[in-house]
Amino acid sequence: MRYFIGIWIFLIIAVVSLLGFRGSKSKDQPLYVFPDMDWQAKYLPQGENKFFADGRNDRPMVPGTAGRGYGNQLASVFSADYTDPVSENPPLYSGKDDEGEWMRGFPVEVNDEFMLLGQQKYDIFCAVCHGASGDGNGVVKQYEGATLIASLLQERLMAMPEGEIFNTITHGKLNMGAYGMKLRPDERWAVVAYVRALQLASSASVDDVPEQFKSELGL
Ligand code: HEC
Repeated sequence: MRYFIGIWIFLIIAVVSLLGFRGSKSKDQPLYVFPDMDWQAKYLPQGENKFFADGRNDRPMVPGTAGRGYGNQLASVFSADYTDPVSENPPLYSGKDDEGEWMRGFPVEVNDEFMLLGQQKYDIFCAVCHGASGDGNGVVKQYEGATLIASLLQERLMAMPEGEIFNTITHGKLNMGAYGMKLRPDERWAVVAYVRALQLASSASVDDVPEQFKSELGL
C-alpha cells in the first residue's frame, strides 16, 4: 500500500509536469535535447550587421551593375558568346516601341503557323472565360460571380494597340489573372494576333472577303 501511494503521487506529479503546462508561455529557453542546426552563424535577409557602416546584411549592387540573363541559365549567361535575347528585340518582351508607347503591329512575322499557334493557345487559355469567338461568353460565365468578363469584340479593345493587349495577357488586368508565366512572349503575341482575327471576323463585311475565296463561299 505504501508503494502504491508513492507511485500514485509520482504519476500525478509526472502527468501534471509533462502535460499541465502545455500552452502556457514562458520566456525561458526550452530544453533542447537535439539542437540539430537550429543555431548557426549566418546572415539573414534584411538582418542587422555591425560590420558595415549602414548596419545592413543586404549589400547594395555595385554601381554600374548590368543585369544579364536569368539566374537559372548560369551556363549560357557566363558563356563568352552570350547575347541577351531581350536586347535583341525589346518590344517582343515589353509590348512597347522605341518611344516607350504601346506598340502597334507585331514585333515578329505574322504567318499562318503563327496564327494557328495563337488559336491553339487562345482556345486553351482564354476561351474558358472570353468564349471561343471572343464575345465574353465562355463556360465560366454560367457560374455566379463571373459575370463581368470583358468581350474582346468591343470597339475600345479593337482600337487598343497590340502591345497593350500583349501587356494585359502578360500581367493580367483587374479581375483577370496574368499569363506571362504560362505563355512564352511569342505565344502571347500569337494570341494577340488571333484576338485581332476574332475581332475582324466579328466586324467584317462581305467586301472584306478576299476575291479568291468569294466563289468558294458562293458569294
Ligand atoms: C479566368 C477568366 C479569364 C481568362 C482565362 C482570361 N481572361 Fe481576359 N479578362 C477576364 C476578365 C474578368 C476581364 C475584365 C477585367 C475587369 O474589367 O475586371 C478580362 C479582360 C481582358 C481584356 C481587356 C482588358 C482591358 O483593357 O479592359 C483583354 C484584352 C483580355 N482579357 C484578354 C485575354 C486573353 C488574350 C486571355 C488568354 C491568354 C484571357 N484574357 C484570359 C477574365 C479572363
